[in-house]
Amino acid sequence: RIAYVNGQYVRHSEAAVHIEDRGFQFADGVYEVCEVREGLIVDLTRHLNRLDRSLSELRMTQPMSRAALTLVIREVLRRNRVRNGIFYMQVTRGAAKRDHFFPPEGTAPTITITAKSTDPSLLAKKYATGIKVITLLENRWDRVDIKTVGLLPNVLAKQQARDAGAHDAIFVTRDGMVLEGASANAWIVTPDGKLVTRPAEHGILKGITRTTAIDVAAKLGLVFVEREFSVDEMHGAREAFMTSATGICVPVVEVDGKPVANGHPGTVSGNIRDTFFAIAE
Ligand code: PDD
Repeated sequence: RIAYVNGQYVRHSEAAVHIEDRGFQFADGVYEVCEVREGLIVDLTRHLNRLDRSLSELRMTQPMSRAALTLVIREVLRRNRVRNGIFYMQVTRGAAKRDHFFPPEGTAPTITITAKSTDPSLLAKKYATGIKVITLLENRWDRVDIKTVGLLPNVLAKQQARDAGAHDAIFVTRDGMVLEGASANAWIVTPDGKLVTRPAEHGILKGITRTTAIDVAAKLGLVFVEREFSVDEMHGAREAFMTSATGICVPVVEVDGKPVANGHPGTVSGNIRDTFFAIAE
């Protein structure tokens, strides 16, 4: 495997950044994960737009032009022979003597890109059986709209889910409203067939897959409503599912040990998945 690190293609096993990198010391960095399907990078433009936004919200400099970045991404995919898989791209505020203040003017950002092939049969299994989730009280900071590498609450939430025999955790507010998963956005289909997901203005990451799924819903003629929903509503829903670049659209069949509908994946999430790749570009 080959990785890209600050201008160079290096063996993945030897790829490294400095121990005083701010990503390492302060989680002072941002990232993107994109899916690659049949050689096509799914929603690349939307991912690059969000990367720009994350960088600018944190007052970080662009590591390179969009055109150059796109070339490097394609080269990393090519060198790793990825036709179906994901790539991971991370930008930090660079390496400098540890100090909370921004590093000296001219400190170069650190950019790393890795790519790997994924096994489609693993996802297919998730689609066929659906996943179990647990709910957890939100304990993240207020700027989860920025895709930062500061993911400790997400890491702990995921592990707590695994320890409880579930696959994922959903963060909820004190009054029982669903925010989002530890690495995916949450959706339901109401008993009367409306597709619902939470508005992305506050409290969640505006998922790229979420945005494209909204386009897909329109294409399928589904009634879509962007509004908050509760954990109780999720229990009583006709379907529930999660969207992310890594899973696209994964059915949720159990929440906190209680089945969603009949405990089997629904048809709407399947339809969205099937149409998704025709629309994503
Ligand atoms: N996570 N919410 C959170 C907290 C996420 O970390 C992610 C993505 C999403 C979905 O966003 P998108 O549709 O753009 O992937 C929502 C990536 C996949 C990860 O951390 O691996």
